[in-house]
Amino acid sequence: MSKAMRILVLTVYCLIGAVHGLYHSCKDIYANDPNSVSGTYQIMNRKQEPFTVYCDFYADYGYTYIANTTSVHIDIDDLYTSKTHAMVRHLNLAGRQKETKMEQISKYSSQFPLSFQYNANVGYAMPYNHQQMAPYLYLGFLPLTVAQNRNQQGYRSNGVDYLFNNCDSNPNSYMAFYFNHNHHVALNYAGCCDSTLMHDWVTHGTDVPSSRYLPQEFYFFFELHMGGCGGYAIPPTIIHDVQGAALGLRFDYENPCVPSPCQNGGSCYPNGGNQFICECSEGFTGTLCQNIA
Ligand SMILES: *[C@@H]1O[C@H](CO)[C@@H](O)[C@H](O)[C@H]1NC(C)=O
Repeated sequence: MSKAMRILVLTVYCLIGAVHGLYHSCKDIYANDPNSVSGTYQIMNRKQEPFTVYCDFYADYGYTYIANTTSVHIDIDDLYTSKTHAMVRHLNLAGRQKETKMEQISKYSSQFPLSFQYNANVGYAMPYNHQQMAPYLYLGFLPLTVAQNRNQQGYRSNGVDYLFNNCDSNPNSYMAFYFNHNHHVALNYAGCCDSTLMHDWVTHGTDVPSSRYLPQEFYFFFELHMGGCGGYAIPPTIIHDVQGAALGLRFDYENPCVPSPCQNGGSCYPNGGNQFICECSEGFTGTLCQNIA
């Protein structure tokens, strides 16, 4: 296919994509055009209802952040490909944004990946403010079966385990991000339970360059809850210096052109999903440029 023809095909595909909402994830957007820039996009759930996301693109991977104004159902499993980590950002009172790579603690990392759920917490503790603030995005660390024990628990932030001993076997091991469309006030969890653990992920967050700042609508009211004795925290009551937090779901894009399937010096171009187009060198033809013209 000639270069002009290839551009025409890609353009038509992009127009159809924009009009009919072929994109269900940031990964789809990236797969269709790996030169897409980080920013705000409209994608569709499986009922083809649009909602707003911020796609933070890097080379062949990225993070998807959901707008807190979203009122349609989110098919969250479509938005990530890895449960090994999430990027959790926070917006501090000074308007600066920081992030931390959130993971399962080391001793459980091979057994229990993180859990990402939309308005559900199957296998995990119920978030405390769910009644008046749902729907919510759920980031689960240890499932109930493990978290209900008097063992060492916690979370891993930017490569460091932050731990506590569960003294009362309360099974909370999660972070919940509330849409709270009706602006309800959070219930105060027995007026407690501050601890260093509640702040470690904020204290050890790394600065995000301002060129990658998320618009404020991507930050949520949230709750971090670990055991009974790990702590319970909400902003700004307990986490004073934070306005909101955002959950970045990780996707990896397997570039169909790496390694290049095109033979005899042909150039490979991704063409949506796992599709690709070979542009053959002079004297070769075929979908993989495998034939001598
Ligand atoms: C959503 O974002 C806006 C800022 O754009 C903020 O004022 C509002 O409090 C946020 N909602 C929640 C539930 O955090």
